[in-house]
Amino acid sequence: MVKIAFNSALAQKALGKDGGLVPAEKDVETALARGQEGSAGRCLLTLLGLAFILTGLIVGGACVYRYFTPKKLYHGSMHFAELSANTHTVPDEPYYLPRVDEEVEIHEHVAIISVPIPRFGVGDPAYILHDFREKLTAYLDLTLRTCFVIPLNTSVVLPPQDLLDLFVQLMSGSYKTYLVHEDLVVTERIDNVAKLGPFIYNLCAGKETYRMQRRSEILGVRKRSVENCTTVRHFENKFVTETKICKA
Ligand SMILES: *[C@@H]1O[C@H](CO)[C@@H](O)[C@H](O)[C@H]1NC(C)=O
Ligand SMILES: *[C@@H]1O[C@H](CO)[C@@H](O)[C@H](O)[C@H]1NC(C)=O
Repeated sequence: MVKIAFNSALAQKALGKDGGLVPAEKDVETALARGQEGSAGRCLLTLLGLAFILTGLIVGGACVYRYFTPKKLYHGSMHFAELSANTHTVPDEPYYLPRVDEEVEIHEHVAIISVPIPRFGVGDPAYILHDFREKLTAYLDLTLRTCFVIPLNTSVVLPPQDLLDLFVQLMSGSYKTYLVHEDLVVTERIDNVAKLGPFIYNLCAGKETYRMQRRSEILGVRKRSVENCTTVRHFENKFVTETKICKA
């Protein structure tokens, strides 16, 4: 390629100038210089192209690695006792107490808790997603295939890094604690799940999704008609919470 271009350029120059076939020495020099410039440019382009391809491969590889390797899950369990609110003492023998198992997946601003079907006692299997950026918590009840969303309660839910520390602590031996009750009521249906951030969208898209409120926050005394309730036992702090979700 380079050679042909060089020759024709040379020929044109030679013919155009004084009709003679022997080109002036100056012309040959410039043509040669031009040819070298061209090949250097092409070489640079090729290198740039290779660099792009390599970058693409590396970035692509990183993405594939990120999305297709199993996520690191931390497993933890707590034994708990029902206690009256003012005596936070727990029996000495934790093994006779009911137990909650969980797996948690930790992201920078998000913790996703997986609650399996309890081996003993009440409760639905569920995913619970705490999104610290959107300041929302979503419960996906796996029995009902329904999502329930409520503002994140940061005085109860440990931030992702602290939650991780708690799970690391739980790995070394059994943990006994107390049970806290939480009473939530469905208020309205949410149609646009996309507004709840990408993580909750991932969890709840295509499922019925409802907004909830704490029962104590609802003004006025509502008659408790026949309610449709579900419970999930879980922990995201050093105590177990029994969340009761009721559709009025
Ligand atoms: C957070 O949870 C605690 C304990 O259940 C409760 O007392 C408090 O009112 C909750 N805060 C909000 C903002 O819901
Ligand atoms: C609870 O709700 C589900 C669907 O929303 C319904 O099929 C079921 O009959 C309800 N149960 C009660 C006790 O109201």
